[in-house]
Formats: sequence, structure tokens, C-alpha cells
Amino acid sequence: MTGADFVVRRAGLLVTMVPRGDDPLGRIRNGALAARAGRVVWIGPDADLERQVTLDGDSLDAQGACLLPGLVDAHTHPVFAGARADEFAERVSGVPYENQQSEGRGIMRTVAATRAADDDELLGLALRRVNRFLSHGTTTIEAKSGYGLDLENEAKSLRVLRRLPALAPLRIVPTFLGGHAVPTGLERSEYVRAVVEEMLPAFRGLARYCDVWCEKPAFTPGETRAILGRAKALGYRLRVHAAQLGPGEGPQIAAELGAASADHLEYSSPEQARALARAGTIAVLCPTASFTVPGSRRPPLEAFREAGVRMAVASDLNPGTANSESLTISMSLACIAWGMSPHEVLIGATMNAARSLGLEGSAGCLQMGSFADCALYDVEMPEEIPYYVGVNRVLATVAGGRVWAPA
Ligand code: NIG
Ligand code: FE
Repeated sequence: MTGADFVVRRAGLLVTMVPRGDDPLGRIRNGALAARAGRVVWIGPDADLERQVTLDGDSLDAQGACLLPGLVDAHTHPVFAGARADEFAERVSGVPYENQQSEGRGIMRTVAATRAADDDELLGLALRRVNRFLSHGTTTIEAKSGYGLDLENEAKSLRVLRRLPALAPLRIVPTFLGGHAVPTGLERSEYVRAVVEEMLPAFRGLARYCDVWCEKPAFTPGETRAILGRAKALGYRLRVHAAQLGPGEGPQIAAELGAASADHLEYSSPEQARALARAGTIAVLCPTASFTVPGSRRPPLEAFREAGVRMAVASDLNPGTANSESLTISMSLACIAWGMSPHEVLIGATMNAARSLGLEGSAGCLQMGSFADCALYDVEMPEEIPYYVGVNRVLATVAGGRVWAPA
């Protein structure tokens, strides 16, 4: 007998995301799952549960609904104040995103609002976003700073990320994105120096990853190498915003430095795809952002598939290009507009996203020892999740072996 403190019973389909036989999604019909201390300790047919598991705790009756691992969102910017709906309106009428990055607009406008907010205000705003992630079935996010852009305000953003887990059960993997933009009023070289010499050493205990946006209007290849090279030497793992607005060296740099992910990649080349595949760097695609930047190109999916690049799909929640915590919307868009398959986006929002965060086997799948993070969907099969466009079919979210309810 296995002892458990939480079970989910009567899942019409339990989708483990661990490939089994000829099913890449590893489904168990009429499945059940048992957890203890937040980890999965038993998984199998519901008919076997009572004979094999003793329960001292709560149980959730799925009533035939479909159970999937909690989604993993590998690219988000959840710490910011203010909104930029007016810039969204301009862009959909044709104004290029690059032309919105002048002083007082774009990223620097959010930086001004974020600097003006204190820790508690930012925490309150981020917590509302965290609750929206959970309500949409996401249980793990990668979360970037990047709207402080100085020692004090980047530290404030990273502190907010550190306080969130005490308030809500979303797993947060923190990333230092001092390399998001060069703040107005500073020489480029002076800012890069501050990132390399002051911020990176100071944030080692606060962030696991370091990210740089490598392209105009952000950082040059030389600046990107300087920041990421130092980050790597200090023990950070790496991510790169690359080839989002035009072709450039970002994807190569990601591969060269062994980054965990290269993100966006609309303008990456087949040669860069091969380099990413060789390096094992995961392509984190951000369809929601792509569709609010007019004229964006479709990423070279065929080249990724041919080279064997693992692809993840992310929300890219941010106030500029994608103000949405819904990863399922990104999955739908990736299918509808880019021709990704439902299986590709399901794997991209679970297994591949988890791998890009060093959480393979723990998050984005359901198996013995994985986190007991899952969501029940009002669907008959997982392929329906991207098909129900823009409608949240989540009936319940379980995080750490407990049914989540907003605090
Ligand atoms: O991922 N590419 C840069 N960063 C964000 C947008 C940031 C903003 O506009 O505030 C992105 O799309
Ligand atoms: Fe981003």
C-alpha cells in the first residue's frame, strides 16, 4: 500500500506527457493520481486506486474530465507597473514596435512606472498576475526582472519574485533581465559596465538565469557576449531574446554559450536552427507577442523540425507586446497561424518548457516523483485545448498536491 495525502480520482483521461508506446502524450484512460508532500507517489487506473493507496487527506473527483500536468510558461515578465494599451492601438493600426521605443514610451515607460512603485505595490500587481496564471492552468513560470534597469530597481523586482511563493503556489524560476534595454540618460558602455560589475555579482542569490535582448533597439552582439559571458562565469544559466524583430547574431550567441533557451526567433536562419539543435538550446516561441508586433514573420518551424530543435511555447506576459497570462491562447495562435500541431504545442507548454528551466521530470509531466501540479480541463481529449480558442476550459488547478483557490 502507498500512503497519500491527496488524490485525484476518476479522470476520463489522465495525460502524463511521458511518451508511452505510440502515444506521445502518454494517456491513461479512467486514471487516478495520488500525491504525498506535494509529489506524485502513485499513478494508474482509477479501478486500482483503492486497493493500492491509503488516503489521509483530500480527494478531488474529476468526474470524467481530462487531467494534464500544470502548464509550464518558459518566458514571462510579470513584475511591472502600468499598462500600454494606447501603444497596442497604435501598433495594430500599423506603427512599428521599434518606433515606440523612444523616450517616455515603450519599455522605458514601463521602467518609469515600475521604478515609481514600491515593493508592496509591485507585489500586489504581480500577485494578481500569478492568480491569473493559476486560473489558466499554469503552475510553473519563468519570471524575468527587466523593468528596473538599475541596481536598486532590479533588486526590487527580484525581491518581489522571491516573496510571491509565500502568497500563492505558483512555482517561479527567476531570471535577471538587466539586459532588456539601455536606460535613457546613461551611456551604453556605462550601463553594460553596471550590469556586469555590479548587478550580476549582486543578484546571484536572487536569480537562477540571466537573459539579454540581443538586437536593435536593445543590445549589440558584443554587449550581449559581455553580459552573458560574465553571467555564465558567475554560475547563472542563460536565456537570450533573439531575432525577434530582424535577423541577427542572437541565436548563434545562445548556441555558442550553451544557453538553455533562445526566445522569439522569428528571424532566425536554418543554419542558426542547426546550431541551436547541436547545443541543445530550446527555442521558446512567443506567438502572442509576435501577433501584436505588425509585420512579424513566422518562425522557421520547418528548419527547427528538420534540425531537431526542441520547441517550447510561452505567453511572454509583458505590458508591451503580450499582456496575457493565458498560455492556452499562445498555444491556439501557434496552431492557427503558424501551423504547429496540437501535439507540438502541448509538448511545448509542458515537457520542453520544463526542460528549458532545468525541471525536466519534475514539472510539465505526471510521473512518480514529479510535482503534484496538474489541471482538470473540461475537454474530452488534450488536443481540444488549443482548439477551444480563447476560452478557459480549466475546471480546477492543483499545485503542490492541493486544490488551488485564489487567496
Ligand atoms: O518579450 N523583446 C523584448 N521584450 C518584451 C517586450 C517588452 C516590452 O515591450 O515591454 C518581449 O516581447
Ligand atoms: Fe520577452
